[in-house]
Formats: sequence, C-alpha cells, structure tokens
Amino acid sequence: MKSVDDFRLRFGSREYVPIMIGGMGVDISTSDLSLEAARLGGIGHISDAMIPTVSDRRYDTKYTRDKLKIYKYNVANTDKSEVQFDLGLLAEATERHVRHTMERKHGNGLIFINCMEKLTMNGPKDTLRVRLRSALDAGIDGITLAAGLHLGSFALIEDHPRFRDVKLGIIVSSLRALLLFLRKSARTNRLPDYVVVEGPLAGGHLGFGMDWAQYDLHAIMAEIQDYLKAENLDIPLIPAGGIFTGSDAVSFLDAGAAAVQVATRFTVSHECGLPPEVQQHYFSADEEDIEVNNTSPTGYPMRMLKSSPSIGAGNRPNCEAYGYLLDANGNCAYITAYNRELAAHPDARRLRVMDKTCLCTHMRNFDCWTCGHYTYRLKDTTHRRPDGTYQILSAEHIFHDYQYSKDNRIALPPAEQA
Ligand SMILES: Cc1cc2nc3c(=O)[nH]c(=O)nc-3n(C[C@H](O)[C@H](O)[C@H](O)COP(=O)(O)O)c2cc1C
Repeated sequence: MKSVDDFRLRFGSREYVPIMIGGMGVDISTSDLSLEAARLGGIGHISDAMIPTVSDRRYDTKYTRDKLKIYKYNVANTDKSEVQFDLGLLAEATERHVRHTMERKHGNGLIFINCMEKLTMNGPKDTLRVRLRSALDAGIDGITLAAGLHLGSFALIEDHPRFRDVKLGIIVSSLRALLLFLRKSARTNRLPDYVVVEGPLAGGHLGFGMDWAQYDLHAIMAEIQDYLKAENLDIPLIPAGGIFTGSDAVSFLDAGAAAVQVATRFTVSHECGLPPEVQQHYFSADEEDIEVNNTSPTGYPMRMLKSSPSIGAGNRPNCEAYGYLLDANGNCAYITAYNRELAAHPDARRLRVMDKTCLCTHMRNFDCWTCGHYTYRLKDTTHRRPDGTYQILSAEHIFHDYQYSKDNRIALPPAEQA
C-alpha cells in the first residue's frame, strides 16, 4: 500500500514532497504556516488578500488608519469611486510581507503567494499589476493565480526579469476555464508551471454555481488530463478540494496528479491565522452546520459555517478603510444590498443584510468562517479535552499525517499533558 511519500512533485530537476498547502485569504494561511510547509519539503502559500491590513496587524504599520483618514469625508456617501489605493504604499506593504516571509525560509520546499483577481480594489489592472510585481521583486518562489479568470495576468508581468524563472500557476475548476486561460496567455509564450484543479468540496470561493454538488473532482481531473495528453502538453496538475487523508491524496497521485493542494485540515493548526476560539467552531461543526451560500459580493458561491457572524450582519460598508472588493467603478454588491435595506428600514437601530456580506470587514475580523466541505471531520483528527474543547494540532503533525499515513487512517497528535 502506497503513501504520499512514495511520490514526488517535479519542477525541472527539483523534487518536492507533493503536498501544497493552499492559500487561505486574509492571513489564515500565515507566513508561519507556509514556512512549515517549505521546511518539510512541500509548498506553502501566503495570501495577497488585504496585505496592507494584514501588515498593520503583523508589522505595526498604519495603512488602514491612514487611508481612512484621507477618505473619512466619504464614509456616508454611497458613491465610493473616489476611494483609491495608493499604489506606492500597496507595493511597499506587499514587499514587506513577502520579504519578511522569504527571509525566514528554511528547508527544501517553496513558498508561493495566492493572488486573487477578484480583489479588484477600485482599479483592477493597476492594483493587480503592483501586487504581482511586488511579490516578484521581494523574491517569492511562485504565484498561484486564484479567484477570477486572470486572462490578462501574465501580460501584466511579462516584462519582469523573473517572469520566466518564477513558478506561475493558475487555479481552475473546469477544462473550459483552463482553455480560456491558455488561449489568452498564449501570446506571452509561457505555459503555467502547474495547474491547481479545484473541485466543489473546497473552502473559500468556489468556481462553480449553486449546482456545485453535481461536479466531481476526479472527473474534472480526468477531462483535463485527457486534453493535455491529446495536445502533448506537459503541465503538472494539482487537484484540490476534499482531499482529507493521505489515502485520498494517493488516489489522485496514482492517477497521474503531480501533487495535491490541501487546506481545511490546516485550519486547526497552531500556525494558522484563525483565532483559537474560531478554530473550536470548526472542530465542533457537524455536516449540517456547513453551507454554500451567495453572501460573498464577488459573485462566487462560498462555503462557510452557518454560524458565521458575517451572515446577516448589517454593518455600514467599510470601503474607506478597506475597499478591496470595489470594482473599477467603485461598486460592490454589498453596498447595493446595504443601501436597499437602509432605504427600507430608515429608522432601524440595527440593520440586517441577509443576501450579501461586507467581506472585507468580516474576513479582516475572522468573522466569515469559510471552510471546506469536510470541516465536520476535523474533530476526528485530534483529542477532545475534558472541558469539551479540542486540542489544536501542529502543522508538522498534519503535514506528516498526509505524507506517511496509509489505509485512510488519520494519526492523532500526542495527547497534551494535563
Ligand atoms: C479557510 C479557507 C480559506 C480559503 N481561502 C482561499 C483563498 O483566499 N484563495 C484561494 O484561492 N483559495 C482559498 N481556499 C481554498 C484552498 O486554498 C484550497 O484550494 C481548498 O480549500 C482545498 O480543499 P480542502 O480545504 O478540502 O483541503 C480557502 C480554503 C479554506 C479552508
């Protein structure tokens, strides 16, 4: 019987443990978590979501406060088109976060950054260009292009000196999305170094509609593999979404996957950015406590715990401080939903907005509890303490469990001393 350790991910002449910890937005996949993956010989991700805000918390900068100061006059205005990011400061924040991570890297693995096109930041092209180029300048090993089609993203960095050396990958959920990307980026004469194929059981935003349950990751993988074979294209495929045990991973590696991308099991690690009390909600969740809903203003369905404080919270939009989801015209679906409720209930002391959520505010505060489908199995991966809470795991333990376990078994961590 095989384990993940019988396989290796190959990029050129270099080999890695074929385990990639996926990007988890707004500092859930922290520097520390990505560093553990790299130290153990695999691949970790930091996230480029809301880096200036993350920087304020991690490095004691004041980007959010200063931005709010500039645009305070606009807080009650429904038109947010004037609320812009300072591109110089955005570059500075991105470089700081990436450099701080890369400087601490040990081991044979790699650290990538997960970059979401859907963070349009009231200037989609300019802000994305700055984020991608700053990450390259600061020495990131690779960039995973996520959440959005990224049809023009290669062109934004094709004149960067590292364009041909850095590892570039894309996340897709269908052959159709991959074909679109390949067609649009063909002009740059560069294929992606890897393709993450994300199925319907993943956490975060989904690349499917509300009919997600009709799709199957193995089937999507097979379709993409057949296409690549027919076209004689050799691009490593990395499935993601619902790969919960080492044996799940082996089933994909045996079928020709180059590696697997996993995330949910690491949400309950010490190194993950989720606060410990939120991690307990992940542990105690049952299957019926998890839903896929449309509350994200991005337009993509998102999976989360039904008890997420973000659901129904009717806070005033915080675009002057954050504004990461404002489109090119300064709109966000949450602003529209909020204004509709405000008009309908002008005298309400507390508004409730059920259909959309202020994602920037709630991801920033770890109040949007996005999670993978199998979150309800996390309780089976650890010990329950006498007080009913669950023991947090180390990223190393989870990584090694994926790497060495067989027969669908999950190794429990050493029990804490009372
Ligand atoms: C809490 C959480 C946050 C996530 N955030 C992001 C994100 O910001 N960008 C992204 O591309 N994928 C995101 N994902 C998806 C993961 O990177 C990964 O592809 C997927 O969850 C793997 O499936 P698994 O969680 O079942 O292992 C997130 C997943 C989780 C669990």
